[in-house]
Amino acid sequence: MDGEEGILRELLEAEPPRRRALELIIGGALVALGIGTAIPVVGYVRGTRRAGEHGGTRVLVGNLEDLPPGSGMKVALEDQPVLVLNVGGEVKAFSAICTHLGCIVLWDEGGQFIHCPCHDGRFDTNGQVISGPPPAPLPAIPVAVEEGRIYLGSA
Ligand code: FES
Repeated sequence: MDGEEGILRELLEAEPPRRRALELIIGGALVALGIGTAIPVVGYVRGTRRAGEHGGTRVLVGNLEDLPPGSGMKVALEDQPVLVLNVGGEVKAFSAICTHLGCIVLWDEGGQFIHCPCHDGRFDTNGQVISGPPPAPLPAIPVAVEEGRIYLGSA
């Protein structure tokens, strides 16, 4: 009995430090995960936004070299999807939320039109409805290209 009691006592005495060590490991891992997530988010927000000359806010979304003529790319502007196009020698941007039921539209590079895959809605390169059920054009987003960089938002 003494042997069993001794082992039991040893386990009871040993368990709290093991539990504490496990808590420290888990706590440390959670803190590291939080820091690892926060640093890129803060860096993205601080690194891409800048105040415009007239008090507006513009967001750097990419480089013109990554958007060759005839192509499009989808970016996020304050958590909203935006479609940026390089068409007809001009960079344009539109909300990528379909005006029908809110699906995300895509750039059809082969057809050179904006396509909503949900109900085959189609928009031209000015965001105007070509065909399908969308009841209104895609809202245009202010866009500017300066020194090869593409900015969205008002300056
Ligand atoms: S949601 Fe775009 S066509 Fe219906």
